Amino acid sequence: MTTTPAFEGLEERSRNMSSLHKLTVLGAGVLGGQIAWHSAFKGKTVVVYDITADALDRCRATHEQYAEIYLSEVGANEVEIAATRQRLSFTTDLAEAVGEADLVIEAVPEVPDIKADVYRKMSGILPAHTLVATNSSTLLPSDFAPDTGRPEQFCALHFGNGIWAMNFAEVMAHSGTARETLTQVTEFAIEIGMVPIPVLKEQNGYVVNSWFVPLLNAAQTLVTNGIARPEDVDRTFMIGGRTIGPLGLMDMVGMKTSYDVLAHWGNELGDAQMTANAAYIKERFLDKGLYGVPTNEGYYVYPDPAYARPGFLDLPDISVVPHLVSLLSPR
Ligand SMILES: NC(=O)c1ccc[n+]([C@@H]2O[C@H](COP(=O)([O-])OP(=O)(O)OC[C@H]3O[C@@H](n4cnc5c(N)ncnc54)[C@H](O)[C@@H]3O)[C@@H](O)[C@H]2O)c1
Repeated sequence: MTTTPAFEGLEERSRNMSSLHKLTVLGAGVLGGQIAWHSAFKGKTVVVYDITADALDRCRATHEQYAEIYLSEVGANEVEIAATRQRLSFTTDLAEAVGEADLVIEAVPEVPDIKADVYRKMSGILPAHTLVATNSSTLLPSDFAPDTGRPEQFCALHFGNGIWAMNFAEVMAHSGTARETLTQVTEFAIEIGMVPIPVLKEQNGYVVNSWFVPLLNAAQTLVTNGIARPEDVDRTFMIGGRTIGPLGLMDMVGMKTSYDVLAHWGNELGDAQMTANAAYIKERFLDKGLYGVPTNEGYYVYPDPAYARPGFLDLPDISVVPHLVSLLSPR
């Protein structure tokens, strides 16, 4: 086996097990919080880094919600939950956060300048052996490989929201990623219970966001352009058996990340509708402090969203017809 200098000696480690035990997650938001909690639950030692103490406090509060979910839905017991908490630590000091990391997963906002800045800041302080992965939804590892200062130790590892149930992780290389990096990162994914999905070529949006982002954008277009009420967009998706629609999913993704993705790609692609959709989300939600599930309100109000209540998909009483017709025709 040939190794780059960064990996010398690693071939002696036991195969079929990564040497990635100490994880640092950058960004304690929706996905960073989930990756951190789940990895700790699976036995990794995890440091969570964010730029403000408030963000870390919000992450800790979210972890208490995850504890309930893992107890009730994942089959965890109290001992495992206590051990998960023990394996987690939190800091706003970047050098402290990454100083002992075997793997850093970056989950900062989907804004290229913010990601590039974090990678550049980190490049001088990372231990030589540390691998780095981006959890970006739509950006490429090659966009940031030079900023990391260690392109051969960098790839994408992309998780799904609701990590305990959406247990897949997409692995994507750029042209300079070393084989050993991909081996270790893929082993890590399996160790924390993720089905690895190899993305065979660099692709914005990987596999899942190649269809998921267009779905959310199409749903948002119907609302932005006044074609349909949000709950009716979701009804059309849910009738027939699905438990959540695209606008409920947008609340889960979070309005900030939804906005970041649509604003970036609207601008990049010169797509006026996507830009209008981003502007709608900003005005209707972000400017009012409504971030979706993270703030308990977006298209729906949580923890008891209308789409999950009995009756949401039921055949209505015929007495609703005058109201529906009034929506259809203002004349
Ligand atoms: N939300 C999803 O469903 C989802 C799913 C898969 C991947 N992702 C990706 O994960 C990344 C994070 O998305 P999110 O939805 O968790 O965002 P988020 O807005 O919920 O969280 C981002 C966090 O990053 C912090 N942050 C901002 N600047 C930072 C910096 N310079 N250094 C460290 N932290 C910083 C913020 O304070 C915030 O806590 C994005 O690339 C996104 O595309 C999101």
